[in-house]
Amino acid sequence: MNEPHERLGSDKDRSRERVPPERPMRIDILTIFPEMFETTLSTSIPGRAREFGAVEYQVHDIRRWADNKHRKVDDRPFGGGPGMVLMCQPLMDCVEAVEAMDDRTATRILLTPQGERLEQARVNDLATTERLLLIAGHYEGIDERVIDELAPLQVSIGDFVVSGGELPAMLLVDAIVRLQPSVLGHELSAAEDSFSVTDESGRPLLDCPHYTRPRAWRGREVPEVLLGGDHAAIEQWRLQQRVDRTRVKRPDLEQRDP
Ligand SMILES: C[S@@+](CC[C@H](N)C(=O)[O-])C[C@H]1O[C@@H](n2cnc3c(N)ncnc32)[C@H](O)[C@@H]1O
Repeated sequence: MNEPHERLGSDKDRSRERVPPERPMRIDILTIFPEMFETTLSTSIPGRAREFGAVEYQVHDIRRWADNKHRKVDDRPFGGGPGMVLMCQPLMDCVEAVEAMDDRTATRILLTPQGERLEQARVNDLATTERLLLIAGHYEGIDERVIDELAPLQVSIGDFVVSGGELPAMLLVDAIVRLQPSVLGHELSAAEDSFSVTDESGRPLLDCPHYTRPRAWRGREVPEVLLGGDHAAIEQWRLQQRVDRTRVKRPDLEQRDP
């Protein structure tokens, strides 16, 4: 039961009519581990986006296109050294076959630690495209000649290395599909997230803190301003929190060109 004078946010925006697009955005994912995507793409927001008709996922096993008897997709590196390298032929044939499955031109994206570091501005941009084709590398990486041939946008999830491009691809897909109209239910929730809200000069801010019931927990109180129902005062408080915590947690954001 609500405590006296307790005010929580209104749910009225959630009831707005949600209409799926005429044609869902198409995301093709090329991988040697398609099974890794099953849960992620059918759960939470990515799953809801598909059910709603905002997006269509097609996951393709690169091995299917290997033209050798054992469906081998990798080989040892020229010049020696550890690890294996994904070969040109299976990947190139896979890209060409998959691109021919739909009349829309796909934006090709290679997940690689050597790519541009992913940021919200790039996610926003990709979220407006009609079709994406994501390539997940593995082992030591991909034969450089097929990268030159495909000329993909190269995207990194950060300055560290993971074992394969599958998890980076899932991160990118989640970040993109949550921006599709109506997917989040509450239209404002993505716009108010960290990096989407900006200060008056257009620099990104972090999100403000959030609280829910109970009002007091282990001696910690919810800030008084959030309980009074004064919407202007709440907005002012939230903006100040965004500015203050961005300054403390991410001072580099203040130095950015807007
Ligand atoms: C073990 S990594 C290969 C790393 C490569 N030898 C290098 O140092 O640049 C295997 C695959 O994981 C993916 N990967 C690893 N780290 C990544 C990152 N930070 N962002 C995006 N993809 C990444 C890429 O698809 C890559 O081809």
